[in-house]
Amino acid sequence: MGACRIQYVLPVFLLVALHWTLAQSTYCEVSRTLSLEDDPGRTFNWTSKAEKCNPGEFCQETVLLIKAEGTKTVILASKSCVPQGVETVTFVQYTAPPGLVAISYSNYCNDSLCNNKDNLASVWKVPETTATSNMSGTRHCPTCVALGSCSSAPSLPCANGTTQCYQGRLEFSGGGLDSIVHVKGCTTMIGCRLMAKIVSVGPMTVKETCNYQSFLQPRKAEIGASWMPTSLWVLELLLPALLLPLIHFP
Ligand SMILES: *[C@@H]1O[C@H](CO)[C@@H](O)[C@H](O)[C@H]1NC(C)=O
Ligand SMILES: *[C@@H]1O[C@H](CO)[C@@H](O)[C@H](O)[C@H]1NC(C)=O
Ligand SMILES: *[C@@H]1O[C@H](CO)[C@@H](O)[C@H](O)[C@H]1NC(C)=O
Ligand SMILES: *[C@@H]1O[C@H](CO)[C@@H](O)[C@H](O)[C@H]1NC(C)=O
Repeated sequence: MGACRIQYVLPVFLLVALHWTLAQSTYCEVSRTLSLEDDPGRTFNWTSKAEKCNPGEFCQETVLLIKAEGTKTVILASKSCVPQGVETVTFVQYTAPPGLVAISYSNYCNDSLCNNKDNLASVWKVPETTATSNMSGTRHCPTCVALGSCSSAPSLPCANGTTQCYQGRLEFSGGGLDSIVHVKGCTTMIGCRLMAKIVSVGPMTVKETCNYQSFLQPRKAEIGASWMPTSLWVLELLLPALLLPLIHFP
């Protein structure tokens, strides 16, 4: 009888101990991806591995996607434990089509394995190719996206509604995604604003450096956020609706 009782007591004790351990520490999905994809909305597999975090830590998942007309899409994706946070889901469209597109999705959450989005179907809904009938045929821009430098940047026709050729370098650090991304292409954005002057994306910080050539203006160059020619301010006053990125905080 005594032996029988011990057999029951032991598993219950183990369960309680296991439950206590789980309650003490958060587990998060952990992964890092830098890649170029043809159709991330359909094919990107964001499955990760679970790792134990330190007590009190949050989980996060963040992805940034950048594409030019006719190119593949650059993906910077990170899932990890983070020391602290506020529970938020953020979707930002920094630059809208036609032409260049830059968007990010970020989720900070406070439950074990809550950073478990496994695909980008709901995040990336940009049409993969623009109908050639929408190309004006009169404007062309060197076009490419690359992790590192562009090995080639063919001059491609611009979609109707685009206003300048953009050529930029984005320097990312943090979140295990330290990298340089080069972007060239036609865009509706004005100036050096592919990232809309927003300097952090989830756990990453961004530094944008570029030069650009407006279809309406002679060549301008701009480094970082510090300098803005007067003529561009005037353009911005005339076209405010084109310039405001769409920022959603659900
Ligand atoms: C994603 O990758 C994981 C691990 O490699 C695999 O088990 C899973 O089936 C993949 N999912 C899809 C939808 O391909
Ligand atoms: C995160 O969740 C834990 C456990 O549920 C809770 O104790 C803690 O206060 C939460 N932290 C924040 C910042 O919400
Ligand atoms: C082409 O232009 C038409 C009319 O402006 C627009 O409705 C359509 O969405 C455009 N197609 C693409 C792929 O951009
Ligand atoms: C785009 O611009 C070209 C040339 O101006 C024009 O022929 C064409 O109809 C335009 N397409 C659309 C969809 O607006």
